[in-house]
Order: sequence, then C-alpha cells, then structure tokens
Amino acid sequence: MSILAGSKGRGYDDSYQEFDSPLMRQLRTEAYGKDIGQHSWVTAQDLEQDASRLKLSRASRLLDLGCGPAGPLAFVVGLAGCRASGVDASANAIAAGRARAATLGPGEVITFQEADLNEPLPFPSASFDVVMSLDVILHLPDRGAVFREVARVLVPGGRFLFTDAGVITGSISDEEMRLRAVHGPNHFVPPGFNERMLELAGFRLLESADRTLSLLQNARGRLAARLAHRAELEKIEGSANFERQQRYLETVIGLSDRGAVSRMMYLAESHTA
Ligand SMILES: C[S@@+](CC[C@H](N)C(=O)[O-])C[C@H]1O[C@@H](n2cnc3c(N)ncnc32)[C@H](O)[C@@H]1O
Repeated sequence: MSILAGSKGRGYDDSYQEFDSPLMRQLRTEAYGKDIGQHSWVTAQDLEQDASRLKLSRASRLLDLGCGPAGPLAFVVGLAGCRASGVDASANAIAAGRARAATLGPGEVITFQEADLNEPLPFPSASFDVVMSLDVILHLPDRGAVFREVARVLVPGGRFLFTDAGVITGSISDEEMRLRAVHGPNHFVPPGFNERMLELAGFRLLESADRTLSLLQNARGRLAARLAHRAELEKIEGSANFERQQRYLETVIGLSDRGAVSRMMYLAESHTA
C-alpha cells in the first residue's frame, strides 16, 4: 500500500486522481497564471530561474524527489533537454507523471519510481548530477537522513535545490497547525535548521532565497479560483472536503501574510572528492 493511501483521503493521492482534467487545468491557470502541472507553490517564473541555478546540460542526470504528477520536472527537462528520474509515494502521481512524460520531445526521457523518501533512495551512489525537491521536505520527519541520501546519490560537486514552505519565522497556534496539515504530517523548522542539516550531510550552501511572496500569490489565486468553481469542485470532493481545503488555504495565507511561516529555496553543492 502506498504510504499516502493510509491517510484516509487526507494526503495527496486523492487529489492526483483528477489532476489533468479540464477543470483542474483551468483552476491551475487561474491560480498560477501559467499551468505547468505543479501541485505546490512553484511558479513557472521561479522554476525557470531555478533551472539555470542547476547548471543542467543535455548530458545531465536529474532526480526529482516527491515529483508529484511531474509538471515541474517535465518543465525543467523541457528546458534542459536532459534525462531524469522522478520519485513519489503516490501511485496516482506516478501514473499522471508517466502520461505527461510521454508527451516530451525525443531525448527528454523521464523514468519514475514509486518509493517512500523516508527509506534509502532506490539508486546507486553517484548516479545523478542534480537533485531537486519542491515543497516535499516539510513532510519528511528526518530530513538529515534524506539529505545524506541525496549526498550519496549525487556525484561530487553535484547540485541540490529544494524548497521548504515550513520555516517558522513567527508565532503559530495549535489550531493553525491543525488546519495547515490537510496533506498529512508537517515538520516545521526554525531558520538555520536546513542550513545546519545540509552542512552535516556534506553540502556547501551556495544560496538561499525567501519565496514567501510567490506562495502568498499562489495561495490567494487558488482560494479565489476554487471559490469561483465551487459547485463543480463540491461534486468531486464533497462539501466537507471543499471547506477543509478552503480553510487550509486561508490558514496558509494568514500565516504567510503576517510572516509567521516562510517558504525558502536552498541551493547547495555536494563536497567534491
Ligand atoms: C506539495 S506536493 C509537490 C509535488 C511536486 N514536487 C510539485 O512541485 O508539483 C508534495 C509531494 O510529496 C510527496 N510525498 C510526501 N511524502 C512523501 C514520502 N514520504 N515519500 C515520497 N513522496 C512523498 C507527495 O505524494 C506529493 O506528491
């Protein structure tokens, strides 16, 4: 059983069933401006800039941890023309990712594996030049172990870029914590924690940037787009779940707006041999 299937429909697996329907595409276009098949706070604009930070070439091997339905992964592969692998715990995400990858150009190959990132990565050492992970680390209880695995599968000098939407930069109530956790467990961390864990895993931090503003725009866009399509969404997800998702987005907006929780991007390099 997928680890997310046990969360009684509260995880990501259910939301991926309808992921590429006309309604979901319409919602993403209204929410993000440009639909690249993301299921996160990633915008096409941020990702385009981040792709250049990764220094990918056509010969690069790229790994995306928690790729979801692989929209951002396919976007980066399309920019670089490289080969890639995507890993996610959701069977529905992997199925949607495979369908998306089938539409890519020649030479742009993505392979997928359904796997739990709390376990050792299912790849030999030094098998990738670049690893990315967008809005996934927040869900993993032991990020130190994940970072060590990333360091193992990267070649010396390989790059690792990830985003973390759960850096605590103010006060947050237990009720807000509960409303924020609709997608399963969250592990919030203080500023400096990711930096320390990266260093302990053998990485050198190259850059970090605050991406809270794009999260705020996306969350507001999603809230408004979902409200505009309320009747259609309630038919699919039921009114209780519709309300829960709206409360989640309102909570995210409130926390980000007052600076209590920040979304950060980190770029690091594995130590050269
Ligand atoms: C916010 S979504 C991001 C998806 C994708 N990176 C994107 O930007 O569109 C988080 C993803 O992490 C995956 N995930 C969460 N916990 C996981 C775990 N323990 N192992 C593997 N994947 C996991 C979920 O299935 C989900 O697809």
